[in-house]
Amino acid sequence: KQYRLGMIGLGTMGRNLLLNMADKGFSVTGYDKDHKMIAKLEEEGKNHNLQGFDNIENFINSITTPRTLVLLVPAGPIVDSVIAELKPLLSKGDIIIDSGNSHFTDTNRRVDELEKDGLHFFGMGISGGEEGARFGPSMMPGGDKQAYNVVKDIFDAIAAKVNNDPCVTYIGPGASGHFVKMVHNGIEYAIMELIAEVYGILKNGLGYANDDIYKVFKKWNEGRLQSFLLEITAEIFVFKDGDTGIDLLDRIKDEARSKGTGKWTSEVSMELQLPIPTINEAVSNRDLSKFKQLRVALEDAYGKKDTKIDVNIEELEDAFYFSMISAYAQGMHLLVQASKEYQYDLKLHEIAKIWRGGCIIRAKFLEDIYQAYEKNNNLEHLFGDAGIREIIKSTLNGTRKTVSACINSGLGIPAFASTLTYFDTITTGRMPSNLIQAQRDFFGAHTFERIDQEGVFHADWNKLS
Ligand code: 6PG
Repeated sequence: KQYRLGMIGLGTMGRNLLLNMADKGFSVTGYDKDHKMIAKLEEEGKNHNLQGFDNIENFINSITTPRTLVLLVPAGPIVDSVIAELKPLLSKGDIIIDSGNSHFTDTNRRVDELEKDGLHFFGMGISGGEEGARFGPSMMPGGDKQAYNVVKDIFDAIAAKVNNDPCVTYIGPGASGHFVKMVHNGIEYAIMELIAEVYGILKNGLGYANDDIYKVFKKWNEGRLQSFLLEITAEIFVFKDGDTGIDLLDRIKDEARSKGTGKWTSEVSMELQLPIPTINEAVSNRDLSKFKQLRVALEDAYGKKDTKIDVNIEELEDAFYFSMISAYAQGMHLLVQASKEYQYDLKLHEIAKIWRGGCIIRAKFLEDIYQAYEKNNNLEHLFGDAGIREIIKSTLNGTRKTVSACINSGLGIPAFASTLTYFDTITTGRMPSNLIQAQRDFFGAHTFERIDQEGVFHADWNKLS
């Protein structure tokens, strides 16, 4: 039997994606070194008579040429070793689609390396976790467009749908698919951090119990803040630890881990000199959380604070909405800059459109982002859209009240505070940065530009005027 597509790596994501494809009627198969994974695939896919391989040659030979192979293996060196294993077995024109969270620079390198052998390689970000993979993820494929067209019908069929539109679109050339997925994850980190800070405010600032916090999130999720992350967060607050009756959340260590995509987003933003402070704070605060012993010791040394604040829920909701919008705005801004820098020719409205469903950052607000970029594909920053401006203006008071109350009481809210000050700076026509230029020129003759004349200037600062 010959199959149309082969999946390499039958872990959670690969297996569920394959089951999704089989559901949609495609003839597909999978390969994994681990027998248990194949057994799992065959068990879960028995209705479709799904078969897997543990022999790579037999697997490759079972796929119609030009072959379409999807990789779902852990990002990093494993991707290279799998490619090395595959290469001698492949023929010109075959397509390899890396669907893991690979770093986009690795994808660039792999495209170049495989091109020499006449193989198409493209990177595709997939979001949505296990459920998404099984029943409809959001997918961000980038690279060789011809290769994409070969598999387009499969992706369209398996993607999540919003108003019947599939949450997948051709992103752009090169590693743009992986780049966009990385930024998606940066936004994901930011929103998770903001929600965690809201939890801190509700618990330590307003004295709410978990049950009350559940109600707040549940209610918010019925309105303008509706989002996947808020929805699952609400559920966490009523989840019990087995039959102990104790909330599991209270027993989880307050040390956050990460696999790196958020950090990469921050690194790239520095590289591109495009500030995304809310995302940066989210990355840094996961790292800070790991210094548990130090935090405990310093709390002892400085004394536990009374962090009670006087803020109402509506104000807090405004602060969250404002900051969530800012987090998306920063991510989109980074995409605008990357598109110019790397010639990705990104269609921002298309990206917002495919993020409306299936992915981890799906939210009602993505419809607003989609509309803003659809109206004006050259929009430099989301804050520049008239509709968004109205929302920002209406949430600003609540945001200022919330942030200042937390700061006054000593309640740590790095992402909220940084987001507000980002807004206040990016809406400042004349910043105090003229002074930095003067300082640089003073000690290092680095020159400066003037507002009243063209050219570069240097002053003899030591000479008293
Ligand atoms: C998604 C997620 C996913 C990511 C996890 C873990 O879109 O489905 O972004 O790809 O791997 O969220 O990320 P961290 O371990 O870095 O939190």
